[in-house]
Amino acid sequence: MDKSLSPLRLPIFAAPMFLVSGPELVVAACRAGIVGAFPTPNARPIEALDDWMRRIAEGLARARDELGAACVGPWCANLVTHRSNQRLPQDLALLARYRPPVVVTALGSPKPAIEVVHGYGGQVFADVINLTLAQKAVEAGADGLACVCNGAGGHTGQLNPFAFVSAVREFFDGPIVVGGGISDGWGVAGALACGADYVYMGTRFIAAAESMARPEYKQMLVDSRIDDLVVTAGITGTPASWLAPSLRANGLDPDQLPAAPARSYDSSTNDSVTKWRDLWAAGQGLGAIRAVEPVAAIVERIEGEFRQAQTRLAGWQARA
Ligand SMILES: Cc1cc2nc3c(=O)[nH]c(=O)nc-3n(C[C@H](O)[C@H](O)[C@H](O)COP(=O)(O)O)c2cc1C
Repeated sequence: MDKSLSPLRLPIFAAPMFLVSGPELVVAACRAGIVGAFPTPNARPIEALDDWMRRIAEGLARARDELGAACVGPWCANLVTHRSNQRLPQDLALLARYRPPVVVTALGSPKPAIEVVHGYGGQVFADVINLTLAQKAVEAGADGLACVCNGAGGHTGQLNPFAFVSAVREFFDGPIVVGGGISDGWGVAGALACGADYVYMGTRFIAAAESMARPEYKQMLVDSRIDDLVVTAGITGTPASWLAPSLRANGLDPDQLPAAPARSYDSSTNDSVTKWRDLWAAGQGLGAIRAVEPVAAIVERIEGEFRQAQTRLAGWQARA
């Protein structure tokens, strides 16, 4: 079976982001020819998830009529498979109804999603941050892996993307998405060159006009640089990359953060929503963000950079 995702103008996922990715961002990404993704916990209660998925399906049908089916990228739902997700059976029932071509599982085994998603012809990718999790996900039957590396926004990875991808390639020849600090077309070319098939780009799309992030969050991204980030487990119990000015604005000293609280993967709790609403996460690719812009303009710029990178690589071929 050909597992490549299509149609795609560029091999990029607008990565799923808690409280940031919604139907407008998903549809705008797919209209721009990349994969549009969102985490299902963003739509609460379950009726809202039904509504979001219907709006996405309708938005994409309209886009295919307007632009032609060959121009509209696939959409993707991100599902928490950790046992704390009490809504998992209902989320799975909605996946079966609306059939996103890709489902990325996070914070748990991909296993619970496989039967349902394969049942309608979709693919399951597992979000992983180390080799052990990657091996387990492949053994559990995942079609692809989303390898989240150092430099990623939100709950970040620790591994270097080049090292992680080549280590995974030792035992897995299926599709690999790599993410972490990649925000421009040069980075996309580098990811493909090192053995990945797609790039997960989260931070680059937080300040998109269509994202659900607050205007102040978007502006802080425009105004911040890589040195403004702090990685700490002190907020959620798991290492995550945050904008230090947003911590300060909430009375926290980035140099003296509290000891790590107990890990919580349950994003439905009020505590977790408050943290992610008031404290703002970002990855090391934030320097590429110069303005709040529509997704279409962002993807256009990345495409130009990607073409320049291809020319650069071709220059080496000419020298050989
Ligand atoms: C604000 C924010 C929220 C995120 N929320 C989620 C989430 O709910 N589920 C998930 O699997 N990944 C989440 N991520 C991680 C992204 O899906 C992706 O792995 C990461 O953004 C890639 O790195 P980058 O931000 O450097 O592009 C989040 C990232 C950010 C920045």
